[in-house]
Amino acid sequence: MATDATSQPVEEILVTERPLWLDGPPYELFKRLRSECPVHFTEKISEYPGEAGFWSVTKADDVHAVSRDWETYSSEMGGITALTNAVMPLELIQAMFIGMDPPKHDRLKALFQRGFTPKRIAEHEEEIRQITRDVLDRVDGQETCDLVWDVAQPVVSRVIGSFMGIDPSDDEIWARLMNTTIGAGDPDINPDGMESVMERDVPEIFERCRKLIAERRENPTEDLTSVLVHADIDGDMLEEHEIVMGFFLLMAAGNDSTKATYCSGMRALMEDPEQRQLILDDPSLVPQAVEESLRMFPAFAHFRRTATRDTELGGCPIKRGDKVVMWYVSSNRDEERFEDADRFDLRRNPNEHQAFGAGGRHYCLGTALARLELKILIEETFARFPNIAIDGEPKAVESPFANQLKTLPVRLNG
Ligand code: HEM
Repeated sequence: MATDATSQPVEEILVTERPLWLDGPPYELFKRLRSECPVHFTEKISEYPGEAGFWSVTKADDVHAVSRDWETYSSEMGGITALTNAVMPLELIQAMFIGMDPPKHDRLKALFQRGFTPKRIAEHEEEIRQITRDVLDRVDGQETCDLVWDVAQPVVSRVIGSFMGIDPSDDEIWARLMNTTIGAGDPDINPDGMESVMERDVPEIFERCRKLIAERRENPTEDLTSVLVHADIDGDMLEEHEIVMGFFLLMAAGNDSTKATYCSGMRALMEDPEQRQLILDDPSLVPQAVEESLRMFPAFAHFRRTATRDTELGGCPIKRGDKVVMWYVSSNRDEERFEDADRFDLRRNPNEHQAFGAGGRHYCLGTALARLELKILIEETFARFPNIAIDGEPKAVESPFANQLKTLPVRLNG
């Protein structure tokens, strides 16, 4: 297996091979693809011989085109990541609205959209700030901590836990279940290997979720789990596995993505004294730091579609049934859109980043919540620990999907 993606003939490159992703996304490889072969075909995924190869879409305009055309590029036909069945069987993915096409997708998404508007989310600001301050209180007084596990994880778990109606004493258990599923291929996050997700974690998720469902059937509550349990989609109720997977989708998105972006953004700010000073001098720049963190470090390296018919993209012939992978880690550094794209610069206006998807039906439901959480987390961390500094080697999750750090050791007072 060749890993030298800078010298290999471009058509031989296999984009998702593990050695390329040990330290986070292979940005140089994507730079090469954008310049030489912006729509590229990877023939196989060596680790999963049963999985077909895939097209990589690496330029922002092409990602935009795929994302907006759900009739040609389906989220339902073949799953939402480069791997169709390797982590979870396709039928489970199709039970989440992220894995559905219209009209069913639209009806389910509409159920939640009202609860996730910027106005409704803003009502949670004080609560989220309090959660964050409580977590920072716990590390205050220590010399060092791991920003991933001691700050980011407990904050995001409690925020999504409060939306879903989870008891705080169960936050850690849910965080573990979500982490092992999303970072399934990483030997530290999920030491028992990919199969353990279906053998151990998914049954536990179903078991725990069934209990929450039964309680809400009996006594409806105000939380989002209750919304799923009592959802009436044109006269039909959701089936139990659809409720569980709807719950899973919200829990997974809430637990993981914001944590990932916060940690990568904080790392960039700690590594660049000039950028950090800008924030310290003028905290009103935090929303720009949030957008620049989203652009530079999209929490999901990719999402995927499946072609519903023969078509063409960037001059390449896409066949019905082909996997089409949209690489946000590449499109967000597309030099046609962003000047000096590899530089973290909170003075730029990164308006057009695609961290939340590139528009279209599946555009992220949680943008307002994620932006608010990220803003509060960055504000409160620097207010409490203005001299916070990296203290050891940050390590990335080994994954071509979950773009996040698994450890970020810091000294809290510099
Ligand atoms: C930094 C934070 C986040 C990032 C980078 C992010 C990214 C994304 C992306 C790229 C998609 C598009 C998937 C596709 O096109 O197939 C998506 C969809 C989604 N996100 Fe987020 N997300 C974040 C936070 C959240 C949060 C906090 C929630 C809510 C709890 C959430 C809920 C969802 C849901 C439900 C979908 C599916 C929408 C649909 O299929 O219509 N996300 N997210």
